[in-house]
Amino acid sequence: MSHASRVSRAPTAVFWLATLLGLFAIPLSLAKNHSPAQPANSTPPLRIPSDVAWTQETLTIISSGDSFRGLLLARRCNHCHGEEGFSSVPAYPNLAGLDRLSFWKQVEDFRSGKRISPIMQTIAEGLAARDSADLAAYYALLPTASDPLENRAFPQPMQDPSRATIAIRLIVFGDGQRGIPPCQSCHGPVSYVKGAPRLDVQNGTYLAEQLDHFSNGSRTNDINVRMRSIAIQLTAEEKTALSECYGAGLGPGANSR
Ligand code: HEC
Ligand code: HEC
Repeated sequence: MSHASRVSRAPTAVFWLATLLGLFAIPLSLAKNHSPAQPANSTPPLRIPSDVAWTQETLTIISSGDSFRGLLLARRCNHCHGEEGFSSVPAYPNLAGLDRLSFWKQVEDFRSGKRISPIMQTIAEGLAARDSADLAAYYALLPTASDPLENRAFPQPMQDPSRATIAIRLIVFGDGQRGIPPCQSCHGPVSYVKGAPRLDVQNGTYLAEQLDHFSNGSRTNDINVRMRSIAIQLTAEEKTALSECYGAGLGPGANSR
């Protein structure tokens, strides 16, 4: 009797096990279908890209930065980022004119380890949230006009000016076939999305490195996979063209210097 009832229970257990597995399989397959191809409205990536969210509280902290205090704190940064926010090393980013939100987010991401850089992670650990807001306020105010007296890497002439056409097309029109929106729709001057820095006063060598980091997955702090999904689709030639074109300042002097 007891033997018989045990046998009859066995299929029930199997049934429940199968049902449970089935239930787990559904969300898994959904997640797979959605992953990196459709960044804008897809399910969140498995690894959270950043601890920063654009909440009212965050925006208030950032907007309350004190630029004078930032000026004093910036002494720690001048050595690499330049006294006027323009670096003399082309692989180091310029900070002059960087909008406050982008600046603050990057420092937070270095601090939390969401963006990897042995140099900057150590530096960010030594800054309080208030300090980065003050620094952000200061650097956002620095003028971006060129100063021939200062030793800065920016702008650099394009190695091959004929590549400017490739770059300008992507910057102005993007590529609808590959679902690449125009760079200028997020990075300005047409419009800016929160946390997207301007690129037209940035060092080309630095930009090229960042595009590589996004496409090879070593930089993953972009919310909603915005930059990874774009960078992974760019060819090596396009990445070079874009970096050099921005690094030349996009201006009329870009090709002739
Ligand atoms: C020893 C050199 C060095 C010093 C000093 C330094 N930085 Fe940096 N910083 C770097 C490098 C290199 C990077 C690029 C990191 C990477 O490879 O992604 C960087 C990146 C950044 C970025 C990201 C810029 C962007 O466009 O995404 C910010 C913001 C920044 N630094 C702020 C600061 C501040 C603020 C200080 C001073 C408190 C500072 N840095 C001091 C070398 C330095
Ligand atoms: C849909 C909006 C969007 C578009 C379109 C876009 N970007 Fe971005 N990009 C961003 C955001 C947002 C960030 C900041 C990511 C983060 O939070 O670290 C970024 C960051 C970058 C960075 C890193 C800059 C730095 O200072 O570290 C580079 C380089 C870059 N984008 C290049 C490009 C290029 C080139 C194009 C056009 C082919 C482009 N982006 C198109 C949103 C966009």
